[in-house]
Amino acid sequence: MSEAAPHQIIQNLAVAYWASRCLHVVAELGIADVLGDEAQTAEELARSSGLNPQALHRVLRSLANHGVFTHDGERFAHNAASRLLRSDVPGSLRSISRMMGLKVHWDAYRELGVALRTGKPAISAVIEEGFFAYLRAHPEEGEVFNEAMAGKSHAQIGPILDAYDFSGFGTIGDIGGGLGHLLNAVLERAPRARGVLFDLPQAIEQARHNPRVTYVAGDFFKDPIPSCDAYLMMTVLHDWSDEECTEILKNIKASASRTAKVLILEGVVQPGARDNFLLDLDIEMLVMATGRERTEKEWRAVISGAGMRLARIIPTRASLAIVEAVIA
Ligand SMILES: C[S@@+](CC[C@H](N)C(=O)[O-])C[C@H]1O[C@@H](n2cnc3c(N)ncnc32)[C@H](O)[C@@H]1O
Repeated sequence: MSEAAPHQIIQNLAVAYWASRCLHVVAELGIADVLGDEAQTAEELARSSGLNPQALHRVLRSLANHGVFTHDGERFAHNAASRLLRSDVPGSLRSISRMMGLKVHWDAYRELGVALRTGKPAISAVIEEGFFAYLRAHPEEGEVFNEAMAGKSHAQIGPILDAYDFSGFGTIGDIGGGLGHLLNAVLERAPRARGVLFDLPQAIEQARHNPRVTYVAGDFFKDPIPSCDAYLMMTVLHDWSDEECTEILKNIKASASRTAKVLILEGVVQPGARDNFLLDLDIEMLVMATGRERTEKEWRAVISGAGMRLARIIPTRASLAIVEAVIA
């Protein structure tokens, strides 16, 4: 792999948010939904969207330069990446692009220095309550967040299903399962199983109904978690500190049978990793939450802190692994 020149590495990073911001605003304005199968000029798109044609042209040209949309000098057309910004495609990434552009998100990133000075999440300088309480109080943003989680999960779910046999479980709980996208897919592979979706009310209220699933609105720090044979937790524990993870896992343990499996679907940081999305995601945790991305050693410590044992780590074709914990 050829290395970029040193000045390019710094310059590209210093301005990376220029293009990022274009993506957020184009996702927010729904431009990819307005653009159909026929190529259109920015003027045509601006007319149907009520936008300034010249500004839209420049923003779309920048995105095309980064591989989102194509541009022949006059008209813009969809390509595979820009189609993912449409609202109506499976695995749409429109919501996660909108979510990253929410004001609360940008305000929190401006405060990254707070995290370095205090060790607290940067967002604590912006809002007093945690991010999930904020989303409860701002339901439109909460909906964007929940849809964003479903969208970002799309590329992970197939590889998870291929890496693990769920068919032997009677009851499968998805704890912090959001809209139930993972649980619904797992239940397809486990036709005899029943599901339990446990999450905060703002996710449960928005979840898509599945007759095989019991929906439980609750707080995994305070409320009892229904007894299950397998507990899924996808990108949940990375939101929380070691102490908070221990509390959540102990709460699960309190309802679990001795043979239950706790399947933690998370990244596992490899020492010395480079160009690894997980290390960027870790910054999102530093800014927005009390958690972090963890190495195998760190996962082992969190799991044993809750009186469980890390049985094995099963890699998948995607970036998440299946960290299987058993009740020790
Ligand atoms: C990063 S999202 C992951 C969602 C889903 N597992 C996925 O990967 O798409 C974290 C989830 O934890 C839920 N959550 C946060 N705090 C919670 C709490 N105290 N009790 C229950 N669920 C909570 C959120 O509502 C959200 O659905």
